[in-house]
Amino acid sequence: MNQQALKQAVADAALDYVKAKIDEKSIIGIGTGSTTNCFIDALAGIKGQVYGTVASSTASAERLKSHGIPVYDLNTVDEVTIYVDGADQSNHQLHLIKGGGAALTREKIITAVANEFVCIADDSKLVEILGEFPLPVEVIPMARSHVARQLVKLGGDPVYREGVVTDNGNIILDIFNFQIDDPITTENQINQIVGVVCNGLFAAKPADRLMLGTPSGVKTMTAK
Ligand code: 5RP
Repeated sequence: MNQQALKQAVADAALDYVKAKIDEKSIIGIGTGSTTNCFIDALAGIKGQVYGTVASSTASAERLKSHGIPVYDLNTVDEVTIYVDGADQSNHQLHLIKGGGAALTREKIITAVANEFVCIADDSKLVEILGEFPLPVEVIPMARSHVARQLVKLGGDPVYREGVVTDNGNIILDIFNFQIDDPITTENQINQIVGVVCNGLFAAKPADRLMLGTPSGVKTMTAK
Protein backbone atom coordinates (compact mmCIF):
# COMPACT_ATOMS: atom_id res chain seq x y z
CA MET A 1 0.00 0.00 0.00
CA ASN A 2 1.50 3.37 -0.95
CA GLN A 3 1.32 6.48 1.24
CA GLN A 4 -1.58 7.97 -0.72
CA ALA A 5 -3.62 4.77 -0.24
CA LEU A 6 -2.88 4.88 3.51
CA LYS A 7 -4.11 8.49 3.65
CA GLN A 8 -7.32 7.62 1.80
CA ALA A 9 -7.93 4.59 4.04
CA VAL A 10 -7.57 6.64 7.22
CA ALA A 11 -9.74 9.43 5.81
CA ASP A 12 -12.49 6.91 4.99
CA ALA A 13 -12.24 5.42 8.50
CA ALA A 14 -12.45 8.92 10.00
CA LEU A 15 -15.59 9.60 7.98
CA ASP A 16 -17.21 6.47 9.45
CA TYR A 17 -16.30 7.71 12.94
CA VAL A 18 -17.58 11.23 12.23
CA LYS A 19 -20.88 9.97 10.76
CA ALA A 20 -21.81 8.47 14.12
CA LYS A 21 -21.25 11.83 15.86
CA ILE A 22 -23.11 14.26 13.62
CA ASP A 23 -26.61 15.23 12.65
CA GLU A 24 -28.08 17.71 10.16
CA LYS A 25 -27.35 20.59 12.58
CA SER A 26 -23.66 19.77 13.00
CA ILE A 27 -20.69 21.85 11.95
CA ILE A 28 -17.52 19.91 11.17
CA GLY A 29 -14.11 21.57 11.48
CA ILE A 30 -11.82 20.88 8.56
CA GLY A 31 -8.03 21.03 8.66
CA THR A 32 -5.49 21.47 5.89
CA GLY A 33 -3.19 19.20 3.91
CA SER A 34 -3.15 16.16 1.68
CA THR A 35 -4.68 13.77 4.25
CA THR A 36 -7.43 16.25 5.04
CA ASN A 37 -8.06 16.61 1.31
CA CYS A 38 -8.85 12.88 1.21
CA PHE A 39 -11.32 13.46 4.06
CA ILE A 40 -12.93 16.43 2.27
CA ASP A 41 -13.44 14.33 -0.85
CA ALA A 42 -15.00 11.53 1.23
CA LEU A 43 -17.21 14.03 3.09
CA ALA A 44 -18.71 15.12 -0.22
CA GLY A 45 -20.52 11.77 -0.32
CA ILE A 46 -22.50 12.56 2.84
CA LYS A 47 -22.80 16.34 2.56
CA GLY A 48 -26.57 16.20 3.05
CA GLN A 49 -26.10 14.74 6.55
CA VAL A 50 -24.35 17.79 7.96
CA TYR A 51 -25.18 21.50 8.28
CA GLY A 52 -21.78 22.62 7.09
CA THR A 53 -18.13 23.17 7.91
CA VAL A 54 -15.58 25.68 9.15
CA ALA A 55 -12.21 25.56 7.39
CA SER A 56 -8.68 26.16 8.66
CA SER A 57 -7.39 27.55 5.37
CA THR A 58 -8.45 29.21 2.16
CA ALA A 59 -7.27 26.11 0.28
CA SER A 60 -9.54 23.78 2.27
CA ALA A 61 -12.46 26.22 2.02
CA GLU A 62 -12.08 26.26 -1.77
CA ARG A 63 -11.98 22.47 -1.94
CA LEU A 64 -15.06 22.16 0.26
CA LYS A 65 -16.96 24.70 -1.85
CA SER A 66 -15.96 22.90 -5.05
CA HIS A 67 -17.87 19.89 -3.69
CA GLY A 68 -20.89 22.04 -2.79
CA ILE A 69 -20.22 21.68 0.94
CA PRO A 70 -21.20 24.86 2.88
CA VAL A 71 -18.34 26.71 4.63
CA TYR A 72 -19.13 29.14 7.46
CA ASP A 73 -17.18 31.84 9.25
CA LEU A 74 -16.18 30.45 12.66
CA ASN A 75 -17.59 33.57 14.32
CA THR A 76 -21.07 32.70 13.11
CA VAL A 77 -21.27 29.19 14.58
CA ASP A 78 -22.09 28.29 18.18
CA GLU A 79 -20.45 24.89 18.23
CA VAL A 80 -18.05 22.74 16.22
CA THR A 81 -19.04 19.12 16.79
CA ILE A 82 -15.79 17.57 15.62
CA TYR A 83 -12.54 18.71 13.99
CA VAL A 84 -10.63 16.52 11.54
CA ASP A 85 -7.06 17.36 10.52
CA GLY A 86 -3.71 15.82 9.70
CA ALA A 87 -0.35 16.25 11.43
CA ASP A 88 3.33 16.32 10.60
CA GLN A 89 4.25 14.26 13.68
CA SER A 90 2.52 12.77 16.70
CA ASN A 91 3.98 11.22 19.83
CA HIS A 92 2.22 8.55 21.90
CA GLN A 93 0.54 11.20 24.10
CA LEU A 94 -1.06 12.61 20.92
CA HIS A 95 0.99 15.80 21.20
CA LEU A 96 1.41 16.98 17.63
CA ILE A 97 3.63 19.02 15.37
CA LYS A 98 1.48 20.78 12.79
CA GLY A 99 1.90 23.62 10.33
CA GLY A 100 3.75 21.98 7.46
CA GLY A 101 1.06 23.58 5.30
CA ALA A 102 1.41 26.93 7.13
CA ALA A 103 -2.17 26.80 8.45
CA LEU A 104 -1.24 26.21 12.10
CA THR A 105 -2.89 29.28 13.64
CA ARG A 106 -6.34 28.74 12.16
CA GLU A 107 -5.98 25.02 12.90
CA LYS A 108 -5.24 25.74 16.56
CA ILE A 109 -8.17 28.15 16.78
CA ILE A 110 -10.60 25.53 15.50
CA THR A 111 -9.20 22.86 17.86
CA ALA A 112 -9.84 25.30 20.71
CA VAL A 113 -13.50 25.54 19.72
CA ALA A 114 -14.21 21.95 18.69
CA ASN A 115 -15.76 19.43 21.03
CA GLU A 116 -13.40 16.74 19.74
CA PHE A 117 -10.22 16.69 17.62
CA VAL A 118 -9.62 13.66 15.42
CA CYS A 119 -6.14 13.59 13.89
CA ILE A 120 -5.64 11.50 10.76
CA ALA A 121 -2.28 10.46 9.34
CA ASP A 122 -0.32 7.66 7.81
CA ASP A 123 1.75 5.66 10.28
CA SER A 124 5.05 7.34 9.30
CA LYS A 125 3.93 10.33 11.42
CA LEU A 126 4.01 8.47 14.77
CA VAL A 127 7.31 9.07 16.63
CA GLU A 128 8.75 8.59 20.11
CA ILE A 129 10.03 12.16 20.46
CA LEU A 130 8.82 15.19 18.51
CA GLY A 131 11.29 17.40 16.68
CA GLU A 132 12.77 15.63 13.70
CA PHE A 133 10.15 17.46 11.63
CA PRO A 134 11.05 21.18 11.83
CA LEU A 135 8.63 22.99 14.13
CA PRO A 136 6.71 25.78 12.32
CA VAL A 137 6.19 29.10 14.07
CA GLU A 138 3.92 31.81 12.62
CA VAL A 139 5.46 35.24 13.19
CA ILE A 140 4.47 38.88 12.59
CA PRO A 141 6.76 39.91 9.69
CA MET A 142 8.53 42.82 11.47
CA ALA A 143 9.43 40.52 14.41
CA ARG A 144 11.16 37.89 12.27
CA SER A 145 14.76 38.56 13.35
CA HIS A 146 13.85 39.12 17.00
CA VAL A 147 11.88 35.88 17.19
CA ALA A 148 14.64 33.98 15.39
CA ARG A 149 17.21 35.16 17.96
CA GLN A 150 14.96 34.04 20.85
CA LEU A 151 14.42 30.64 19.21
CA VAL A 152 18.20 30.16 18.97
CA LYS A 153 18.34 30.81 22.74
CA LEU A 154 15.84 27.96 23.19
CA GLY A 155 18.26 25.66 21.35
CA GLY A 156 16.84 25.50 17.83
CA ASP A 157 17.94 26.56 14.36
CA PRO A 158 15.13 28.73 12.92
CA VAL A 159 14.92 29.01 9.14
CA TYR A 160 12.73 31.51 7.29
CA ARG A 161 10.29 29.68 4.98
CA GLU A 162 11.04 31.65 1.80
CA GLY A 163 8.11 32.79 -0.31
CA VAL A 164 5.39 31.70 2.14
CA VAL A 165 2.81 34.14 3.48
CA THR A 166 0.13 32.66 5.73
CA ASP A 167 -3.60 33.23 5.24
CA ASN A 168 -3.20 35.77 8.08
CA GLY A 169 -0.47 37.74 6.24
CA ASN A 170 2.41 36.51 8.40
CA ILE A 171 5.63 34.57 7.84
CA ILE A 172 6.79 31.14 9.01
CA LEU A 173 10.02 30.24 10.80
CA ASP A 174 10.74 26.49 10.85
CA ILE A 175 12.87 25.35 13.79
CA PHE A 176 15.38 22.67 12.77
CA ASN A 177 17.55 20.51 15.06
CA PHE A 178 15.14 20.94 17.94
CA GLN A 179 14.46 17.84 20.04
CA ILE A 180 11.26 18.44 22.00
CA ASP A 181 11.37 16.45 25.24
CA ASP A 182 8.64 18.43 27.02
CA PRO A 183 6.15 19.57 24.38
CA ILE A 184 3.79 21.47 26.70
CA THR A 185 6.61 23.54 28.23
CA THR A 186 8.14 24.23 24.82
CA GLU A 187 4.77 25.25 23.38
CA ASN A 188 4.29 27.74 26.21
CA GLN A 189 7.87 29.08 26.02
CA ILE A 190 7.58 29.85 22.32
CA ASN A 191 4.19 31.49 22.82
CA GLN A 192 5.82 33.92 25.30
CA ILE A 193 8.12 35.40 22.62
CA VAL A 194 6.81 38.80 21.49
CA GLY A 195 5.98 38.66 17.80
CA VAL A 196 4.99 34.99 17.77
CA VAL A 197 1.41 34.49 16.62
CA CYS A 198 1.28 30.75 17.17
CA ASN A 199 3.54 27.70 17.13
CA GLY A 200 2.91 24.30 15.62
CA LEU A 201 3.02 22.32 18.87
CA PHE A 202 -0.44 21.05 19.74
CA ALA A 203 0.43 19.71 23.19
CA ALA A 204 -1.40 21.83 25.78
CA LYS A 205 -4.50 20.69 23.89
CA PRO A 206 -3.52 17.48 22.07
CA ALA A 207 -5.61 15.43 19.71
CA ASP A 208 -8.39 13.42 21.37
CA ARG A 209 -8.10 10.58 18.86
CA LEU A 210 -5.30 9.64 16.47
CA MET A 211 -6.22 7.46 13.53
CA LEU A 212 -3.24 6.02 11.66
CA GLY A 213 -3.30 4.39 8.26
CA THR A 214 -1.02 1.33 8.35
CA PRO A 215 -0.46 -1.46 5.81
CA SER A 216 -2.42 -3.78 8.13
CA GLY A 217 -5.40 -1.43 8.55
CA VAL A 218 -6.35 1.72 10.43
CA LYS A 219 -5.15 1.87 14.04
CA THR A 220 -6.70 4.21 16.60
CA MET A 221 -5.12 5.72 19.68
CA THR A 222 -6.99 7.87 22.18
CA ALA A 223 -5.71 10.47 24.63
CA LYS A 224 -5.20 9.02 28.12
C1 5RP B 1 -1.05 22.03 7.70
C2 5RP B 1 -0.88 20.88 8.60
C3 5RP B 1 -1.11 19.52 8.03
O1 5RP B 1 -2.08 18.88 8.78
C4 5RP B 1 0.17 18.74 8.09
O2 5RP B 1 1.17 19.47 7.40
C5 5RP B 1 0.01 17.35 7.47
O3 5RP B 1 -0.20 17.45 6.11
P1 5RP B 1 -0.34 16.17 5.18
O4 5RP B 1 -1.66 15.54 5.50
O5 5RP B 1 -0.26 16.73 3.78
O6 5RP B 1 0.83 15.26 5.48
O7 5RP B 1 -0.59 21.00 9.76
O8 5RP B 1 -0.71 23.24 8.31
